[in-house]
Amino acid sequence: MTMLERSDWYDIARDTSWTPSYVTEEELFPPEQTGDLGITRSAWDRFDEPYKVSYSEYVKTQREKDSSAYSVKAALERARLFENADPGWISLLKTHYGGLVPAEHDAQTSEARMARFGLAGGMRNMATFGILDENRHTQIQLWFGHEHCSKDRQFDWVHKAGRQNQWVMIAARSYLDQMMLSRDAVSTAIMLTFAAETGFTNMQFVGLAEDAARAGDFSFANVISSIQTDEARHAQTGGGVLKILIDEGRKAEAQRMVDISFARSWRLFCILTGPSMDYYTPLKYRKHSFKEFAREFIVQQFQRQILDTGLDLPWYWNDLINEMDYQHHSYHLGVWFWRPTMFWNPPAGVTPEEREWLEEKYPGWNASFGRCWDVITENLLAGRRELTYPETLPVVCNLTQLPICAVPGDGWNVRDFPLERNGRMYHFASAIDRWIFEQEPEHHQGHLSIVDRFLAGHIQPMSLAGALQYMGLAPGEIGDDAHGYAWVERYRDPALARRAA
Ligand SMILES: [Fe+2]
Ligand SMILES: [Fe+2]
Repeated sequence: MTMLERSDWYDIARDTSWTPSYVTEEELFPPEQTGDLGITRSAWDRFDEPYKVSYSEYVKTQREKDSSAYSVKAALERARLFENADPGWISLLKTHYGGLVPAEHDAQTSEARMARFGLAGGMRNMATFGILDENRHTQIQLWFGHEHCSKDRQFDWVHKAGRQNQWVMIAARSYLDQMMLSRDAVSTAIMLTFAAETGFTNMQFVGLAEDAARAGDFSFANVISSIQTDEARHAQTGGGVLKILIDEGRKAEAQRMVDISFARSWRLFCILTGPSMDYYTPLKYRKHSFKEFAREFIVQQFQRQILDTGLDLPWYWNDLINEMDYQHHSYHLGVWFWRPTMFWNPPAGVTPEEREWLEEKYPGWNASFGRCWDVITENLLAGRRELTYPETLPVVCNLTQLPICAVPGDGWNVRDFPLERNGRMYHFASAIDRWIFEQEPEHHQGHLSIVDRFLAGHIQPMSLAGALQYMGLAPGEIGDDAHGYAWVERYRDPALARRAA
């Protein structure tokens, strides 16, 4: 049978726009779902995606990716990687799967919105593949993570995290709701696919895959690398939409969407990926720090992409780059401190050798974060573990739902950025977070943070036990130090303790 070349039929097949006769154009594509910003329909015909793929090609490639991931997994099971891995690495897997599976799941809805309400045939076509991609990402990561449940109950959170009121998951849901679920097709394309996927998924899926390969976890490295190849394709929807917005004089709207999404995404990746790279990955497998990865994958690559499209860098660009020196260290300290509220066991990551590495990668770490860890270490050495648990609640940012924290010790820079609106006082971690809230107050103003809920009496009894129950942490799932505090023993050797000081 003679087959046509793809280039001979692709443009006709993908351009499935037609003129409706039973309903009006506006009924078929209501502006609140398309987000067309008043741009004429003919302008959308210029949408072009650089990565062309037919359905049969798509299915063939995806099948190969899946069979490769499953065969690597089967081989590694024989090598008993899970049983022999460092507990820090196991915690990294729990944060990744618990945090990412709900995002992949919700991304199917976002892609479906673009597949139905995108105004260009090519955009709808790409987004249809995007739905299938996100479905694959949800299922394969759900399976790869949750199957460890029989060995470690915290892996049940791979499946259940997305629906719990655990505080990191409240933060994640608030992000997913704002960026992915409550948006029209155009702003989804820009905020999710351009700003979040182009800007950040490389960091999680390529950066972490490098660490995974060095740690011998080829199963994890393989699955997340195969996910990134899908992301790199469907994220191009955003670039195509952005070009039309800029050509049609809507740069200001596009810029605002990028500025909102980029900062929101940064904070979430900061708490999920930052500690994973600088504290959870065993020292011998680390090559680059989180900051080095962030500078390569976020600052350099995204900066080039933003400027290439004709947009400007976000107004807060330098402030955000400065945060790469400290924000994830303070999130890590908070996660370890509030460890009973986590669904993974956070490793402290502060042995003498690890502290040396941290000081080398982040000069000044010992004089700031190190001083908090000094107090924790002293208390643990003296057998006063009870003093290493929190007694009060943190102040939580009303945008990100994450604690307001920054640099402790020398260089202290923690402050609240408050805003009073309609008689309610809101608190923010930075001027960036407050600015985002003010752009779309209707998205956030009715939301209660975990602390607001506690104070409003939603969490009963008002104790740690009540809080754990509210957060969905069942016995056997409550977090504790990943290494059972074994690292503290290193400091009983006076020579090592001096070296770290
Ligand atoms: Fe995905
Ligand atoms: Fe995606």
